[in-house]
Amino acid sequence: MHILILGGTGGIGSALIKTYLSQDAVNHIHATYHNSHPTIEHPQLTWLRTDVSKDSDVAKLSETVGPLDIVINAVGMLHSGDMMPEKTITQFDSDFFNQNIATNVLPTLLIAKHLSPKLKSKTLNYFVTVSAKIGSIEDNNLGGWISYRSSKAALNMALKTISIEWKNKKFNTCVFAFHPGTTDTNLSKPFQRNVPEGNLQTPEKVAAALINLLQQLSLKDNGKFFSYDGTEIPW
Ligand SMILES: NC(=O)c1ccc[n+]([C@@H]2O[C@H](COP(=O)([O-])OP(=O)(O)OC[C@H]3O[C@@H](n4cnc5c(N)ncnc54)[C@H](OP(=O)(O)O)[C@@H]3O)[C@@H](O)[C@H]2O)c1
Repeated sequence: MHILILGGTGGIGSALIKTYLSQDAVNHIHATYHNSHPTIEHPQLTWLRTDVSKDSDVAKLSETVGPLDIVINAVGMLHSGDMMPEKTITQFDSDFFNQNIATNVLPTLLIAKHLSPKLKSKTLNYFVTVSAKIGSIEDNNLGGWISYRSSKAALNMALKTISIEWKNKKFNTCVFAFHPGTTDTNLSKPFQRNVPEGNLQTPEKVAAALINLLQQLSLKDNGKFFSYDGTEIPW
């Protein structure tokens, strides 16, 4: 298996790399990093510095990788510097909103644009982005976090739209969104005290859940949104 993991330096991305590297079925992993220096080294792992929100960087990335069985996008942001997700619309900031869109939506669109020729056409393959249940419009009963929420809703629509286009073009690709649950990473650090005891997942557990899901899903699951426990989430 040949795998590309975007955001390999993140909490979830690095757990995915470590878990996959322990599996015999894996031939090679390409992984991207942006600002953090990668710490995992392995003969079957190649790191590529890529700003996945930049068209030219993603175009370059697509020239570097060979045919792929699995693409997992684990890039994302919730807060940056001193900017925290909004509690009310009065805290809305257009730069912060644009940063959420650039980090949470653009990469999936750009990798779909540039990497589609690299997805193996003759065998089942997977194109996954780590989204968040908070991006489900139907599930929104709480409000708040409007920039992150809106960016994940836009990401979900992008994935659904790509899944329909590729199905019509008879690709062998299963496209889906994955919700990891609240996971112990830098992204969730400032909010972990609000998480009920026992509900904070380890990145290792989340990686195992996604890898297990990938082993079970087929083309009939194209265009769906799955939680870490395998249940389907309404878009
Ligand atoms: N943790 C949670 O509780 C939780 C819950 C629901 C959904 N999610 C989603 O899960 C995904 C992974 O999150 P995480 O918790 O693993 O976060 P994380 O530990 O903060 O990792 C974020 C990753 O995104 C990368 N990144 C950010 N901007 C980038 C850019 N422009 N180009 C390339 N890479 C970029 C970072 O790379 P560098 O560090 O190299 O810059 C890092 O690898 C996100 O989409 C997040 O929304 C997380």
